[in-house]
Amino acid sequence: MNPNRGIFNNLYKNLINPVLKKDTGIDAEKLTNFSLRILSFSSSKHKWPVISSILKSLNEEFCIVDEKLRQNICGINFANPIGLAAGFDKNGDAANIWKDFGFGFAEVGTVTKFAQDGNPKPRLFRLAEEEAALNRMGFNNNGAENLVKNFVNQGIELKKNRRNTCLGINFGKSKITGLTEAKEDYLTSLKFLIPYCDYAAINVSSPNTTGLRKLQDPVRLRELLREIKTLPNCPPLFVKIAPDLSFKDIENICQLIIDEKIDGIIATNTSLDRLGLEKRKLKQTGLLLSEENGGLSGKPLQNKANKIIKHIYSINKNIVLIGVGGIDSPESAWERICSGASLVQIYTGWIYKGPQLVPDILRGIIKQLDIHQMSNIKEAIGSDLKWVE
Ligand SMILES: Cc1cc2nc3c(=O)[nH]c(=O)nc-3n(C[C@H](O)[C@H](O)[C@H](O)COP(=O)(O)O)c2cc1C
Repeated sequence: MNPNRGIFNNLYKNLINPVLKKDTGIDAEKLTNFSLRILSFSSSKHKWPVISSILKSLNEEFCIVDEKLRQNICGINFANPIGLAAGFDKNGDAANIWKDFGFGFAEVGTVTKFAQDGNPKPRLFRLAEEEAALNRMGFNNNGAENLVKNFVNQGIELKKNRRNTCLGINFGKSKITGLTEAKEDYLTSLKFLIPYCDYAAINVSSPNTTGLRKLQDPVRLRELLREIKTLPNCPPLFVKIAPDLSFKDIENICQLIIDEKIDGIIATNTSLDRLGLEKRKLKQTGLLLSEENGGLSGKPLQNKANKIIKHIYSINKNIVLIGVGGIDSPESAWERICSGASLVQIYTGWIYKGPQLVPDILRGIIKQLDIHQMSNIKEAIGSDLKWVE
């Protein structure tokens, strides 16, 4: 056994976990930014011998390599089905090193055409007991052009150079851009970033940019996606939807996804529904969750997000699904895959459970595949198989 095995997990358990046990204390956004500074430094200096050896140890602790986990989806090679969800690495600061945490892919962004500060702080809140979070960040990011510069500075290879990291980029609309000009906003960002995108996530579902969710309206969405598809070298496209849509709305979106030959759907973003936590007081502000703006993520979202994946899969099995929302264990990841997701993403659960969650999920999946005598994860997708102890 490698003597370093467990070192990063222990560090996380001893330094970060105690902070995550309380709503108050160190501010959630400050903690995220502090971690991102370390990750960003490591990503940009990944070739320095000392950093490279730390990353190697990280890799040994968290990476699980197994042929059963590999899939080619829309021409993209995924070493495993677990991705980092959008919103943690908004500026692609750690784009080089997400693979060393064991992720099969990472979705950076949301990026917008214009750099913007986002909403006033505080805007990210821990709900420790529920292993959930409320955020109203509002697409704080350095803008699409700066994301390219950041990739260049970190030495991120272009997609065509067969790089060893799989990156999705999540695109949104700038706050100052009106709905009628939204198309141009998305197109400008995409034009800058297409050379780096393994896939593009078209985000029309964040609850913290006024009017953005109106782009889920089938007429508007169809128009937007049509324009995007005409871009030269357009990457595979995934539309990221809200969990607050009715099944009827979702069916309409599925129809247009099929009509317009869009590759897939990412379900779901954070929820405006308080998911049973309406009466829960936010300790940081003294207000009830029902009185606060922002989207809810984490464990309370698990069932709703899973039902949406199940529903879409029942409508059409050819739409590639990326399942996200409340995944925090091998069991919940397996459930999402068996409900129809080809890939899954984690964010809030990864923060609460720590980086060990990625290898734990992957080992759990491999075990289930063995129990069910399956040779590749593809066989489990939409199988509705239950977790077997
Ligand atoms: C602090 C925070 C910021 C987020 N920012 C974005 C974002 O910029 N773009 C996006 O598409 N989703 C964003 N999300 C949503 C996540 O990508 C994910 O869809 C959602 O949190 C549900 O997954 P989870 O329960 O595993 O966190 C954000 C989530 C959180 C908690």
